[in-house]
Amino acid sequence: MVEVKLSESRDLTRIERIGAHSHIRGLGLDSSLEPREVSEGMVGQTSARKAAGVILQMIRDGKIAGRAVLLAGQPGTGKTAIAMGMAKSLGLETPFAMLAGSELFSLEMSKTEALMQAFRKAIGVRIKEEAEVIEGEVVEIQIDRPAVAGAASKTGKLTLKTTEMETVYDLGAKMIEALAKEKVQSGDVIAIDKASGKITKLGRSFSRSREYDAMGPQTKFVQCPDGELQKRKELVHSVTLHEIDVINSRTQGFLALFTGDTGEIRAEVREQIDTKVAEWREEGKAEIVPGVLFIDEVHMLDIECFSFLNRALENEMAPILVVATNRGITTIRGTNYKSPHGIPIDLLDRLLIITTKPYTEDEIRKILDIRCQEEDVEMSEEAKRLLTKIGVETSLRYAIHLITAAALSCQKRKGRIVEMEDINRVYHLFLDVKRSTQYLMEFQNQYINETADGDEEDANAMES
Ligand SMILES: Nc1ncnc2c1ncn2[C@@H]1O[C@H](COP(=O)(O)OP(=O)(O)O)[C@@H](O)[C@H]1O
Ligand SMILES: [Mg+2]
Repeated sequence: MVEVKLSESRDLTRIERIGAHSHIRGLGLDSSLEPREVSEGMVGQTSARKAAGVILQMIRDGKIAGRAVLLAGQPGTGKTAIAMGMAKSLGLETPFAMLAGSELFSLEMSKTEALMQAFRKAIGVRIKEEAEVIEGEVVEIQIDRPAVAGAASKTGKLTLKTTEMETVYDLGAKMIEALAKEKVQSGDVIAIDKASGKITKLGRSFSRSREYDAMGPQTKFVQCPDGELQKRKELVHSVTLHEIDVINSRTQGFLALFTGDTGEIRAEVREQIDTKVAEWREEGKAEIVPGVLFIDEVHMLDIECFSFLNRALENEMAPILVVATNRGITTIRGTNYKSPHGIPIDLLDRLLIITTKPYTEDEIRKILDIRCQEEDVEMSEEAKRLLTKIGVETSLRYAIHLITAAALSCQKRKGRIVEMEDINRVYHLFLDVKRSTQYLMEFQNQYINETADGDEEDANAMES
């Protein structure tokens, strides 16, 4: 019943753009978990980073399951950044699922179903599977020119050899595309999964090592395989419980994984899958890999969600739950009670709490430097100083947003380097929260001087 062919889904779900946290490549810790001042895109916030590193180590050692961590701190102090850093350091094998508290209220499914899906996205299953593969060194790839120009389907031939035999395989359009995508050339040693047609490049054949100079130092050389071309091999797939759910949920099918349009998954499907996975574990065919579920803006959850979390953490396969909030003592949604961070006491009690602190001017400057690099923006020294000042007076996030806007302003005047004037222009074009609020309160009569000093005074005035 339950069948799993899914290793490709990863490629699609991990596409990245230049986003708010794309400069974060890890937690920036050394091998003894000490934070480096600036590393992997991370600046300062050292004790929180170190604490996050300790949690990661425990996850890797498999020491904790069903535990939860709270990142608490003011807005813009790097809570989400630290969670992303954790995700990056986990590696592809350990699942990391992310959800913003407010998302739960905009989905076309119940809140608890959405939470359940998020939990199961954070639980990995390593499945060992015997598969028929064809493994050999590529002797030749020959693609036929279509007889009619523009004819849709291509055909061709692939010659593979081992030290003992050589065989010619017919190629269809799909295989030709797959070979092209993997950039397979003669001299490569490849494996083809017979069931799925997936091609894996294992390396270059040693017989081609004379061409080393042409290939570059990254090239991995392997022996030409011996024996038969076709063999049985043990393959390991890493999937999440959620992926298995979706594939086996008859109404959806696996395409839903790519659109995220999974709808509700029936409880019977999950039960069947849990039973199957338990069987596989007993037979030694599968292993559970608890990952991390990150819920940002957790104060947006209501009491119903919180009690779901409490229950879900009791489950034997529970992932590590990391939540973040910038709220102090506030009302728990769905109740009249107030509680620290808007989180009920029984859940709070399970949480290890990591706090983040506001950045110093120097740290803000360094983060802005990193963001300029990430966005490929060149900025003059004075402009950076002004932007840092703005970051100190308003917020780090606002200052980061101004980088992109200032770069556009610079582009418009056909400049190459972002100068003070660009920062100035966008500072007046886009209000930060304080000025916007003030504007609302005092209306028109509060305009700001055109100079950097003026900016400072105004910003100070707004503080009070
Ligand atoms: N220590 C840090 N090092 C590098 N970049 C950071 C750091 N802290 C925050 N940032 C960046 O600053 C911005 C705001 O931080 P964010 O993590 O969203 O704050 P929070 O989630 O606490 O409100 C993001 O773009 C984030 O990547
Ligand atoms: Mg955040």
